[in-house]
This record gives sequence, C-alpha cells and structure tokens, in this order.
Amino acid sequence: MDKIMVEGGRSLNGEVRISGSKNAALPILVSSLLVDGTCTFHNVPDLRDIKSILMLLSDLGAKIESQGTTVQINASGITKYEASYDLVRKMRASILVLGPLLARLKKAKVSLPGGCAIGERPVNFHLNGMARLGADIELKHGYIEASTNGLKGNEIYFDIPSVTGTENLMMAAVLADGTTVLRNAAREPEVCALADALSMMGAKIEGVGTSKITIEGVTSLQPLTCTIIPDRIEAGTFMVAAALTHGDIILNNCEPAHMENIIHKLKLTGAHVTTEGNAVRVQGNGIIESIDIKTLPFPGFPTDMQAQFMVLMSVANGLSVISETIFENRFIHVSELKRMGADITLSAGNVALVKGVKGISAAPVMASDLRASASLVLAGLVAKGTTEINRVYHLDRGYELIEDKFSKLGASIWRIKG
Ligand code: EPZ
Repeated sequence: MDKIMVEGGRSLNGEVRISGSKNAALPILVSSLLVDGTCTFHNVPDLRDIKSILMLLSDLGAKIESQGTTVQINASGITKYEASYDLVRKMRASILVLGPLLARLKKAKVSLPGGCAIGERPVNFHLNGMARLGADIELKHGYIEASTNGLKGNEIYFDIPSVTGTENLMMAAVLADGTTVLRNAAREPEVCALADALSMMGAKIEGVGTSKITIEGVTSLQPLTCTIIPDRIEAGTFMVAAALTHGDIILNNCEPAHMENIIHKLKLTGAHVTTEGNAVRVQGNGIIESIDIKTLPFPGFPTDMQAQFMVLMSVANGLSVISETIFENRFIHVSELKRMGADITLSAGNVALVKGVKGISAAPVMASDLRASASLVLAGLVAKGTTEINRVYHLDRGYELIEDKFSKLGASIWRIKG
C-alpha cells in the first residue's frame, strides 16, 4: 500500500487548478444509463471512484471511451441490470444505478452498500422512494432486487435531505408516468448539477436548488454534452492549506457561489479571501482565530470539510467547538491528530472541543476515510518533522494527484509506492 510523506514547516504559495467534482461526476456519469446514444462529459476528474463507476457502467453493457478529462458513454446496448457486490463494495455511490436501471429496464439487482468508516449509511430513503414510485423492492442475500411494470410519479418526503437519495430518485422520476414531488430534497451544488444535466437531456424539473423539486415525467431523453462542475471540497481543502501555512494560493477553475459557507468561515479565522470570476485567492496572515463549526446540509457548512477545518482549529488561538450532525462516526481523524499533539476532547452528541496548541509534531498516521486522509496531509504540512500517512488509497478516491498539486505550491511531499 502506498504511503505519503510530508515534511512540515513550509508556507504554500502559487496557483492550483481545481479538478472536476467527484460528487457531481458520479451521478451525472450514471445518468447516461437513461438515454440511447452517446453522452459526452468534460472535466471528469481522474479518481479511483470515477474508475469504479465507469467499470460498473461498462459491466452493465455501456460502451465507454476516455480521452484526458473527457469521457463518452453510450448505454444504448445495456441489457444487464445487476450491479455486483464486488463492484458496489468498492464504492457505495454505485447505489445510484438503481433509479436509472428501474427507469430504463424496469428491473435492477444492486448489492446493498455496506456501511463505511464514517457511519452506517443506510439506503432506506432510496428504497422507500423507489417503492413510492411503484417499484417492488425485495432484499435478498445482501442484494436489492427491484422491479416495476412502469414507474409512476408520486410525492416523496425525505426525513433527512439525502444527497444521493435525491439524485437516485430524480433519475428514477424523469422517465416515470406523471408528476413526482421530492420534499425536503437535498440542495447541494452536485444535486443541482445533476438536475441541470437531466434538463439538458430533456427532463422537466422545477425547483432545483430548493427543498421541493417537481419532476414531470417524459417518455424519453436525449444524449447530452456537459462539463462537470468544479470540486468545492477539493477547493476548500486547498483554501485551508493556504490559511494553515500562512501562504498565498490562487485557486483556478472554482465556483465561488458553491463555497460561500467555506469562504465565510475561513474569513472568520482571519484568512484574507478574495474571489474574482472562477478564481479564489486565500492569504494566511500569521494569525488563526478559533471559530465554531456545525456541519449541516447545504447551504450549511459541509460535513466533507469538517476534518480539514479541525486541523486549522488545532493550531488556532483558543477553543473551537466542532459539531458533526450528518454522520455518526466522522471523528476518526481525531485520534490521529491527537497523536500529532493536537488537544481535542470528544464529548457526547458528536461534538469535538478543539483547544489550539502552539504547534503539532510529525508522526506515522493512518488514513481512514477520504476527507480524514486529506486532513492528515494538511496536518503534515504544519507539523514539525516528517509525517508518514499510511493507507493513502482513501485519498486517491477523491483527490486527483494531490501530492503533485501540493508540491507545485511549495510543499515537501512525496509518495512511497507500496
Ligand atoms: C453524499 O453522501 C456524498 N457522497 C458524501 O461525500 C457527503 O458527505 C454526503 O452526501 C453529505 O453531504 C456522494 O455524493 C457520492 P446523504 P450520501 O444521503 O448521499 C442519512 C465524500 O467524502 N441517510 O446525504 O451517502 C445518512 O446516514 C463523501 O465525498 C439515511 O438515513 O449522504 C446521513 O446521516 C463522504 N438513509 C444523512 O442521511 C438514506 O437512505 C445524509 O446522508 C440515506 C441517507
């Protein structure tokens, strides 16, 4: 297994280009299952999770061609409706094929995604929603076996605004007979990007970006060409790196409107943040003020940025209260940061009390999930000594060439192939 080494103490300066969003690309690539013909996608990030979803689509019978960051998918010939355990266990977002397969083939057999490090992550909202649209759902031997005589529009209410739940049901509803209303739907930019892509295919969707999405089913959709939106979480990670190392980084190919919550919080810590078109500039200025963070569904502060901000608060002036309200076990990085000298106390109700310390020190640490791994790289950038980060395959799932991008900004970071 590869490991990444980071020698701390350097301030990061320069420009970095943000890649396409993993969490927008995954559902949008899957939406190609809904149409006959070739769909073309630009600015697709080169990530393990993208490779996994393309492998799954190919296994279902789609024809795939990749050229740099452009991917073409032709799902005209799909006949297979089964997403195997072996493919789904690699990436839980594979559940996103359930809706399109039901809409297109009226059948689907998808392995139940297990939990993951950050939580149990049930899919009941996905399954209850499909049933509301007229699918028969059975759970057998670890698989979801779904079938329908034809999906029919209906009202669906999410107890919690689920990102992939909203995406899955949107993709099921666009070809259903009649009107579907999704209430308490997710409002993340990645959900909006999928809705925009479906609309470009000819779907009729109102209320995108609000908690009430209305979908008028149509009989068929057309292939599209679209560009994947920038990855706001990758961008946020580099923005924190600039503040953390008191550097000066310009991030190109961003969408500031998707990051208002991150920008607002970063400014409160004392960083100087300016935006111009699709660029964001972050300048650290020697001080890092402690602030409180509470993760919430969009437009609240993203849970995917919680671990990264915790590193910043670990070396801030004062006490920070970080509340994780989305996932039940998303503090796995805390024990690793404490081994580096961070002063963090976990209290009931998924709350972390972070008392800023003067400095942290390098240590061998273990990555556990995608965003926690990124937080360990950030910690290594400011730790005294050289930090060894193990199990970096987690990182490769969601960050494209992270050590190259950080090296170009002046970091002393390298990968040891394992
Ligand atoms: C998406 O996961 C993202 N993944 C996650 O990013 C992100 O952390 C999460 O949304 C929250 O923003 C992708 O988009 C591929 P949810 P998702 O359904 O859709 C509960 C990353 O690092 N829930 O919005 O799986 C669930 O347990 C990843 O890129 C149910 O109870 O998250 C959680 O508490 C990590 N039943 C809450 O809802 C369901 O059927 C929100 O989860 C579905 C969800």
